[in-house]
Amino acid sequence: MVKAVYPGTFDPITNGHMDLIERAASLFDEVIVAIAANPSKQPAFALDERVAMAKDVLKHVEKAHVIGFDTLLVHFAREQGAKVVLRGLRAVSDFDYEFQLAGMNRRLDSNIETVFLTPAEKFSYISSSLVREIAGLGGDVSGFVHPNVMAALKNRIR
Ligand code: COA
Repeated sequence: MVKAVYPGTFDPITNGHMDLIERAASLFDEVIVAIAANPSKQPAFALDERVAMAKDVLKHVEKAHVIGFDTLLVHFAREQGAKVVLRGLRAVSDFDYEFQLAGMNRRLDSNIETVFLTPAEKFSYISSSLVREIAGLGGDVSGFVHPNVMAALKNRIR
């Protein structure tokens, strides 16, 4: 039984995140989508809103479970009995930060292995902050997020 934890801020969850989670579900027995409180990023959506949105749009992925956390990632992973941390690499520019994160997490807990997946090419330029910015300026984000997330973004802007 191999459990993977996929951590992020998910402010909000995008089609790129969903693509990665669907890919991971075909590789692991369970994928825990771990939504970090991450107050330093000053998220636009509260933690419980981000969790509810992710649960809603991931209903079809049986192996995915969404949980919010506000602790160290390695502590959360240990609590969940997961040895794998999953991260997405969209472009070379992601690599430096991801390399640092993976190294630090291994230093904090040598049992944790970080596994990287790449999203489908059409999602390689999406990020949550770009989606928020485009939605905030009245642009069309229907190609980047689930319709329910789009509705939540519209409500937030209002
Ligand atoms: N599709 C679309 N967008 C993606 C993506 C994908 N497949 N993969 C990453 N992104 C985007 C995110 O939307 C986000 O965009 P944004 O910065 O515009 O919001 C960006 O890439 C990266 O953010 P995210 O994947 O959410 O990760 P993060 O860098 O915000 O979060 C944590 C990093 C949560 C993993 C890290 O802060 C953490 O582990 N926190 C817990 C505390 C801890 O243990 N700290 C010590 C770490 S050593």
